[in-house]
Amino acid sequence: MAKILIFDHPLIQHKLAIMRDINTGAKEFRELLEEISMLMVFEVTRGLPTEDVEIQTPLCATKAKMLSGHKIGIIPILRAGLGMVEGILKLIPTARVGHIGLYRDPETLQPVEYYCKLPVDSEERELFVLDPMLATGGSASAAISFLKRRNCKNIHLVCLIAAPEGIKRIQQDHDDVDVYIAACDDHLNEHGYIVPGLGDAGDRLYGTK
Ligand code: PRP
Ligand code: URA
Repeated sequence: MAKILIFDHPLIQHKLAIMRDINTGAKEFRELLEEISMLMVFEVTRGLPTEDVEIQTPLCATKAKMLSGHKIGIIPILRAGLGMVEGILKLIPTARVGHIGLYRDPETLQPVEYYCKLPVDSEERELFVLDPMLATGGSASAAISFLKRRNCKNIHLVCLIAAPEGIKRIQQDHDDVDVYIAACDDHLNEHGYIVPGLGDAGDRLYGTK
């Protein structure tokens, strides 16, 4: 069974509270999403393997630990997942970035795919799928299925806010995928929006509404 990890760290919760506020503008919203994504990387990458390397400090030769050349891929779901990319790349600059374009049909709430470009060796990489909002879970589940059809195996899902419905959907469809979130909210409303949530993440990031 996959892990569901909720980051209840005070710094993350503080920044998330500002993001939720209707009066927070696009610039600050973008900055906060980048910062929270950076903070989440710390725990999301805890399982990465390290290896001993010989180094020379100014005082002596010693052994130290470094990441063992494990290949990492980050896969934002367009559009809102893009807001999480830069924060993660600052900490893992060698990660390759693949993009999956999905939007949720406002009537049916079903994900519609419109773009996909992945690193050529995605199946060898540890993949982190990024999307701030896990609502019905349809978009994230479709993105993960898409990766699995391309033989990707080591997949993690990193979100900001989830609804219980979305978490359940990922557990049902992909019980091998660990889910990392900053908050699990109360419920979905009749339009499939997370309550209390933060509204439409893509629109708030890019000022499109
Ligand atoms: C939002 C969000 C997720 C999806 C979540 O994207 O960023 O991708 O909805 O909903 P679900 O869990 O019910 O599938 P949206 O479809 O609004 O597209 P956008 O990012 O381009 O605005
Ligand atoms: N997508 C969003 O951006 N927000 C929600 O609350 C649900 C889906």
